[in-house]
Amino acid sequence: MKIKLHKTIYFIGFMGAGKTTVCRKLAKVCGCECVDVDFYIERFHGKKISEIFDEVGESGFREYETEALLNISKSNTPRLVSCGGGIIVTDENIRIMKNSGIVIHLYSDAKNGARRISNKKTRPLFKDVKKAQKLFFQRLPKYEEAADYTIDTTRKTSGRVYHEVIDMMSEEGLIDIIES
Ligand code: S3P
Repeated sequence: MKIKLHKTIYFIGFMGAGKTTVCRKLAKVCGCECVDVDFYIERFHGKKISEIFDEVGESGFREYETEALLNISKSNTPRLVSCGGGIIVTDENIRIMKNSGIVIHLYSDAKNGARRISNKKTRPLFKDVKKAQKLFFQRLPKYEEAADYTIDTTRKTSGRVYHEVIDMMSEEGLIDIIES
């Protein structure tokens, strides 16, 4: 399959929604870059996300996140961006994404996400499912505010989500399928 991507796409959603998996798979058929905001921050600061949380706390991490998103959003070439689950916590981030691309929410609550997360140690805000579920519901209005489109990933494999994303993007004119 070969796809032409017309606009930068930001994938948002709670931890374990499968943003990075879908983004990477899609990048291969689009022949474009998949930029992972968390990896960008880790490379930029030379530290793991958990170390950043230990050193500067969540508020410091959020500042790094906005700085990273701002840099990523400046590219003139359409690209696929996988965002950390808390990107929508900062209003400025929602503004940056909306001004520079299209936002797709991969809907997944914490219970659903927990099945996909193998190593919870790498996620400082996902220590137990009950607390994470509370956080998910607190954030839900923000995901909804930020999203141009929403795909429900509940009990779906990443392969199925990937195909649903492609179908939706094609219907909405965000991509052209050049070769199927
Ligand atoms: C976070 C989600 C993580 C990462 C950090 C904070 C959050 O990204 O950015 O641990 O606040 O939901 P993933 O959604 O890729 O796990």
